[in-house]
Amino acid sequence: MEKAKLIELIQHGDEKGYLVVIEENIDVPFTIKRVFYIYGSQRDILRGNHANRKSEFMLINVSGTSKVRVDYGNSTEIFDLNRAHVGVYIPKMVWKEMYDFSDDSVLLVLCSELYDPEEYIRDKGVYYAEVNQ
Ligand code: TYD
Repeated sequence: MEKAKLIELIQHGDEKGYLVVIEENIDVPFTIKRVFYIYGSQRDILRGNHANRKSEFMLINVSGTSKVRVDYGNSTEIFDLNRAHVGVYIPKMVWKEMYDFSDDSVLLVLCSELYDPEEYIRDKGVYYAEVNQ
């Protein structure tokens, strides 16, 4: 099974500051169909808590910090998101939880699919049954 991984993006920096570019199928390994961002979550809040049958994601804390715990069905991994030019790529069929949000956290999410609640698995028992079959 394909694992999640950190992707470091190029920081174009000069005396004006920084600029980071994300082009589909170049900087992220999918076509970007959907973009959303998450902010205003308290540190003790757990978000995500789902896996996706089709969607692939790239998560980047463009401001502040958070953590992402992924579960592959037989192992887990934690990624610290704390740099505006480093994101975590999450393939399909990976359970994910986002937590430990800083007050200034803005978590940008790029996604390979349009929103379809039917392709979300929100029950961990159902996820384990599907991923381990
Ligand atoms: P939800 O999936 O519960 O967010 P999280 O996984 O971060 O806890 O989504 C929150 C709300 O936003 C929910 O009412 C569904 C809606 N939503 C959309 O309408 N489109 C989207 O692309 C996403 C991700 C969520």
